[in-house]
Amino acid sequence: MYYNEICMSIAFNELEKTFNLQSKNTSYVLQIHRDGYLVHLYWGKKIKKVNAEELLALTGRGSFSPNPNPEDNELSLDTLPQEYPAYGNSDFRAPAYCIQLENGSTITDLRYESFTIKKGKTTLEGLPATYVESDDEAETLEITLADPLIKLKVVLSYTVYKDYDVITRNVKFINKGTSNLKLLRALSMSLDFDSNNYDFLHLHGAWARERHVERTSLLNGTQSIESRRGASSHAHNPFIALLSKDATEDYGDVYGFSLVYSGNFLAQAEVDQYYTTRVSIGINPFDFSWLLEPEQSFQTPEAVMVYSSNGLGEMSRTYHKLYRTRLCRGKFRDKTRPILVNNWEATYFNFNAEKIESIAKAGKELGIELFVLDDGWFGKRDNDDCSLGDWVVDAKKLPNGLDTLAKHVNELGLQFGLWFEPEMVSPDSDLYRRHPDWCLHVPDRIRSQARKQLVLDLSREDVCDYIVRSVCDILKSAPISYVKWDMNRNMTEIGSENLPRERQRETAHRYILGLYKVIDRITSKFPNVLFESCSGGGGRFDPGMLFYMPQTWTSDNTDAVERLKIQYGTSIVYPISTMGAHVSAIPNHQVHRNTSLKMRGDVAMSGNFGYELDLTKFTDKEKEVVKEQITHYKKLRELIQFGDFYRLLNPFKGNEAAWMVVSTDKTQAFAVYFRVLALPNAAIRKLQLKGLDSTKEYSVSHKSVTFGGDELMYSGLSIPELQGDYQSVVWTLKSI
Ligand code: DGJ
Repeated sequence: MYYNEICMSIAFNELEKTFNLQSKNTSYVLQIHRDGYLVHLYWGKKIKKVNAEELLALTGRGSFSPNPNPEDNELSLDTLPQEYPAYGNSDFRAPAYCIQLENGSTITDLRYESFTIKKGKTTLEGLPATYVESDDEAETLEITLADPLIKLKVVLSYTVYKDYDVITRNVKFINKGTSNLKLLRALSMSLDFDSNNYDFLHLHGAWARERHVERTSLLNGTQSIESRRGASSHAHNPFIALLSKDATEDYGDVYGFSLVYSGNFLAQAEVDQYYTTRVSIGINPFDFSWLLEPEQSFQTPEAVMVYSSNGLGEMSRTYHKLYRTRLCRGKFRDKTRPILVNNWEATYFNFNAEKIESIAKAGKELGIELFVLDDGWFGKRDNDDCSLGDWVVDAKKLPNGLDTLAKHVNELGLQFGLWFEPEMVSPDSDLYRRHPDWCLHVPDRIRSQARKQLVLDLSREDVCDYIVRSVCDILKSAPISYVKWDMNRNMTEIGSENLPRERQRETAHRYILGLYKVIDRITSKFPNVLFESCSGGGGRFDPGMLFYMPQTWTSDNTDAVERLKIQYGTSIVYPISTMGAHVSAIPNHQVHRNTSLKMRGDVAMSGNFGYELDLTKFTDKEKEVVKEQITHYKKLRELIQFGDFYRLLNPFKGNEAAWMVVSTDKTQAFAVYFRVLALPNAAIRKLQLKGLDSTKEYSVSHKSVTFGGDELMYSGLSIPELQGDYQSVVWTLKSI
């Protein structure tokens, strides 16, 4: 039996009660199974139909997998592949949700009630999510499940994009009953694979070592990553993937799961006793609960699922395109980004207007377009001990104020940008002295400090209003074209003075909702300002922040060698156009390494390019190199920021790295190769390129002959002999 309306992206087969969600190359099939359980049948390469009976055969398994229906020994939820599983009714695997009732019990029972299919995609109340620009781009299936005993409705939403191999999911809980319900767990999705024959890939790290790629075999039991820090964090990124054992960059099955959320999350894969695998992702249930009073609803964040049958590279390109064009928003989404100089590593807190203007002047001579004034311009902030929350210009450093400084920088020919850390308060600040209750805290407990600061309680409206007001006042006071929105510590003693006792465990999520509201208000008030998010570098490099701010400071680690891994790992999910990357001084301030100016430039060019050092200290020779880098980037930035990204050599595997960007029409490309340490009598090597048009002929920079796209991809381009450590080679290609 074929689907009733196969031409649609989402088709319902009335007879078999199956839904087939079809994107360009994939199918995702689910079924209303007997007794109204919603089961998962298939996700992968596009297929016309799924024989449900075949897939669900042998789900009944003796006494240790119990049967919820005494009449039906063949049905156990413990063996049924499900779409949104509960706990306690015969499924012993990890549940997707858990609710405590007023009688203290945690048993609920969701069964199918109804469905709707509509064109387009609905927005998520208060939460960032991918979007459509026209209703023709996607279709959305909403399946309502219900537990009639407590009058709970749960709406599972699935959106399938026509032109991307993407399915997004989210869940809404609605309390239609007369009693309170307490959500203890409310994940955004759950999905059962019928085997464990996969590898588990995730991005882990630390401050200055973000998003390192780790791939391991799926093990029996649960493999999970999570954040309990109140931010998505440097330590783990809200993303996991399952890969077929043979999957490579260009080959094999890859299933990606990314969460559009910036707070505590959980992502896990559980291999059960029958070697099936349950994957889920969502808000971390750890220290979370949410009171749902009658008629209230709770919306989960969005999970973005990408399937690729052509390896990890294709999965990444799908995320890149979706996140670049249908997650990032605003004027700068499709605009090339300015080349900037940031004074942080040049001066730290030790600057005055004269110094700033001298750097800006040097920047103009080199071709730089934007000057960013980092931390230290407000309060009495000569170090990081004080003044967060007091967003008043430091008259000692900038006696003529921000407006005059910004105008001088403008007169020099550069735009002016400014750093803020609005979510924080220093105990040594006027704000804290006025409002000691405005930070996250628990009565009678210590208030742990990090970098001598506390976290403002963004679950409170008065605190949010204060932040919006103080940031907007500054933005109105001077010609500011760019904002770096920093956040430099994680949450401790999570509690809010404004919330009742039964809602204290909502604080961390309410904080994130407050944050989203605050940045939505500010960014919509200043649509002509380019916002870059930052959290001690990449501590909140996640899709949630990208919805409001189209770029992120990738890492505080600006060492070119370390950046190879950080940027390579970041590219697994996030587009090049979202990554801030700067050339900094040597010895590098984080790892004290001396790399060549050329390599530093080539690494930083594979992102939103900038400099973060004292430009006035360049020698004449260095100035020439930098001028050339800037001219080169200006010619290529449209391609680099908006082209298709291909990873060529993996820095986690050795001494080399390489990647390239190809324009969507395949007429232009930029490829770069890095070799970290010199090798004696190094091997003669060719680099095989990717993503080119095999029928096209290309000219390659510094080569006197032309090459076929097929030759460049299958035979390769020879890597010149390199001398010394920290070498890089760049090629630009044009079709002729
Ligand atoms: C952390 C950021 O990542 C740095 O770039 C810099 O802005 C400092 N904070 C300033 O305090």
